Amino acid sequence: MAGEIEKLRVELGDRGYEILVGPRLIESAGREILPLLRRRQVVIVSDETVARHCLAKLRDSLSAAGIVHHTVLLPPGEETKDLDHFGRLAEQILAVGIERGTMLVALGGGVVGDVTGFAAATLLRGIDFVQIPTTLLAQVDSSVGGKTGINTRMGKNLIGAFYQPRLVLADTATLTTLPHRELLAGYAEIVKYGLIRDAEFFTWLEAAGRSVCDLAPAPLRRAVMTSCAMKADIVASDEREEGDRALLNFGHTFGHALETETGFSAWLLHGEAVGLGMVLAFDFAARSGLVAVAESERVHHHLDEMGLPTQLSAVGLAGMPADCLIAHMSKDKKVRDGRITLILPRRIGEAFVMKDAPLGELRDFLSGVA
Ligand SMILES: NC(=O)c1ccc[n+]([C@@H]2O[C@H](COP(=O)([O-])OP(=O)(O)OC[C@H]3O[C@@H](n4cnc5c(N)ncnc54)[C@H](O)[C@@H]3O)[C@@H](O)[C@H]2O)c1
Repeated sequence: MAGEIEKLRVELGDRGYEILVGPRLIESAGREILPLLRRRQVVIVSDETVARHCLAKLRDSLSAAGIVHHTVLLPPGEETKDLDHFGRLAEQILAVGIERGTMLVALGGGVVGDVTGFAAATLLRGIDFVQIPTTLLAQVDSSVGGKTGINTRMGKNLIGAFYQPRLVLADTATLTTLPHRELLAGYAEIVKYGLIRDAEFFTWLEAAGRSVCDLAPAPLRRAVMTSCAMKADIVASDEREEGDRALLNFGHTFGHALETETGFSAWLLHGEAVGLGMVLAFDFAARSGLVAVAESERVHHHLDEMGLPTQLSAVGLAGMPADCLIAHMSKDKKVRDGRITLILPRRIGEAFVMKDAPLGELRDFLSGVA
């Protein structure tokens, strides 16, 4: 069992923390969390679906470690990240009778992690929290790095804080109950790491991607560890996204436009939008002569083979007017003075930030995609 668990550290000085990756970590969560507690009291925040699969194990483990625990459950889904749900969650947590030494434990996907992290950042002006991510997307991306937030009618994640967890327990055994479509959406974020910084990792994914998505233990652990290590490294050097952290948004500006069009709904999952966004970024770069066409084709081929959508027509968005996409892209958080910033590839394994994307070329390109 011990050999199945791997560890790495996010180096952020006294705000640094460990990420543990491996199966059945929920069963040992009490033991891992206990040394971090200032008070033997935690509030678990989860959603109703995740709770059905994982909550009993977490409660047992906390009880076995002598930790008093309370639970607040949220409805599953992105709608839970709004101000109304957040207000109710904050009051439910306060009603438990928390103190500054109380710890929150986020048990769930990115939605639960983002909302719980924001509650931790704001309640009593800041209390500790632990992430126990249960989707592949949350294990390789959202649970690490300390971006927390909620949505408003004006856009996604517009209220939030950079606030780091004290520990991340990525229990890979939880993924067995995750629907395959959600798993694939998380896989797109894994591919992203290969594309922006590690060509060898991408080549390995071309061979091992299927085993990763079949949840074969060793490949899955390697994929999650490599992704977390890269994110940890980037976050350690640029916690507040003033430089290199922006590379993690590869595929996101195009993807965000598609998500805006589909209303951030189950029509198009975030990871699926990122996958399509990465394909569009490669195609746009290839058309502009910034990257070889063969590289772009390799990316298409791999995502296709894995079963991710690579064409707008595959998700019912064929013929979407270019101006509409550009209008959505112009509302992205990364827009500066109305200029669109794109993360584009130079080759597989290397990306760069283009601060002032040429709008005319972008419009021509988007008019031709289907
Ligand atoms: N903070 C960050 O850095 C960051 C990065 C990327 C994405 N995000 C955010 O993450 C959110 C998306 O996260 P997500 O894709 O994990 O979605 P999610 O949290 O909505 O989870 C997806 C679905 O899977 C269910 N689920 C979760 N774990 C399960 C399990 N083990 N078995 C069965 N079902 C399970 C959930 O109930 C939900 O219905 C978005 O709100 C996005 O903005 C944040």
